[in-house]
Amino acid sequence: MEQYAIKGGNPLVGEVEIGGAKNAALAILAAAIMTDETVLIENVPDVRDTNVMMQAMESIGAIIERIDRHTVKISGKAIKDLVIEDDFIKKIRASYYLLGALLGKYNKAQVTLPGGCNIGLRPIDQHIKGFRALGADVRIEHGLIIAEAERLKGGHIYMDVVSVGATIDVMLAAAMAEGQTIIENAAKEPHVVDVANFLNSMGASIKGAGTDVIRIKGVSKLHGTEYTIIPDQIEAGTFMFAAAVTKGDVTVKNVIPKHLESISAKLTEIGCEVEESDDAVRVVAAKPLTHTHVKTLPYPGFPTDMQPQITVALGLSKGTSIVTESIFENRFKYVDELTRMGASIKVEGNTAIIDGVCKYTGASISAPDLRAGAALVIAGLAAEGTTVIDDIKFIERGYEDFDLKLQSLGAQIEKISSERELRKFRLKTG
Ligand code: EPZ
Repeated sequence: MEQYAIKGGNPLVGEVEIGGAKNAALAILAAAIMTDETVLIENVPDVRDTNVMMQAMESIGAIIERIDRHTVKISGKAIKDLVIEDDFIKKIRASYYLLGALLGKYNKAQVTLPGGCNIGLRPIDQHIKGFRALGADVRIEHGLIIAEAERLKGGHIYMDVVSVGATIDVMLAAAMAEGQTIIENAAKEPHVVDVANFLNSMGASIKGAGTDVIRIKGVSKLHGTEYTIIPDQIEAGTFMFAAAVTKGDVTVKNVIPKHLESISAKLTEIGCEVEESDDAVRVVAAKPLTHTHVKTLPYPGFPTDMQPQITVALGLSKGTSIVTESIFENRFKYVDELTRMGASIKVEGNTAIIDGVCKYTGASISAPDLRAGAALVIAGLAAEGTTVIDDIKFIERGYEDFDLKLQSLGAQIEKISSERELRKFRLKTG
């Protein structure tokens, strides 16, 4: 089993290139099979989740050609099978996008119930409600979600919760439904807008993505396109907090600063300098960090996917901070691990009360999920001594070359897979 060995203490300094948005890529890859023409997608991050998605698409007959590490050509022309039971697909949440895409194109789909990070209950009732509003019959049998319709018809859907997944999934299905669909209380995340832009580039007619109300005029056919995925807001935010926690000076490049506003605002509040330019953001942490309060909210609020990273920073900030998680009910599992590193955090329900400490100390810990895993890496980079993190497979679901990018900023981090390699790492890093 691979682990990360980290020797903390080096401030991160330099520039880092941010890759394509994983959560946009997952939906865009699925949507690419909605045409029989060829689609070229650029800036696809090479991470486990996108690779699993492409594997599942290939399992039903999609032809995927990798042009280079981040560019793929996809053809959905030869798709025959509308049943996705692939074992791997259970591991990713975004398998539900294949449901929306196949239902939209073929009026029928059967997909294994989605898995993904264990951060809460994660129901899919809003997806199902949306498909039913489009006239589909949806049922769950033998672990599969089965959705079918004679012909999808536009409908009016009010989402009871703001859901990124359900908004995108319904948008996919409705793109080829007959007539107009209106999604109210839609999610406004940058990746919702990116998926809408992608579908529009294939000939769909989607208006209002990025606002509360999305209007979709169904079209009978989608065509091929070439499209570049937006930069990953959360990867960027993770490096920004890594700079803050290690008292560093990092410029994250190839980003859309507007998408990072809530993250930049919190970093400024806790004492960092944040400089924005056209497609880069520089974070300088020259002063000691101070406490703040934060509540995770749907976009443009502070992202739940950045909650563990800000908690790690507040754990080292002077004073008492409060972090409230309002999206997922089980997203503080990493706090036990952080406590082993010396953090002083009490979790009550969906709130973490954090008393800042002066330092973390290295420990052997496990990554409980993707973002928490990345946050624990950041804690290790700031800690005194060596930290060893297990279960880095979670981190690899969503961060491409995380260790290499951190190394390029001066971090002492290595992927190891044996006690012998750990001993070597300890000898090397002193
Ligand atoms: C997406 O998950 C992301 N995953 C998550 O990223 C992210 O944390 C989340 O959006 C919130 O931004 C992908 O894009 C693959 P939701 P999703 O539907 O779509 C409730 C990461 O680390 N809900 O917006 O599953 C749900 O329980 C991850 O990259 C329902 O009640 O999230 C939650 O409380 C992890 N019924 C809230 O809505 C539904 O049918 C928001 O969930 C759907 C959701």
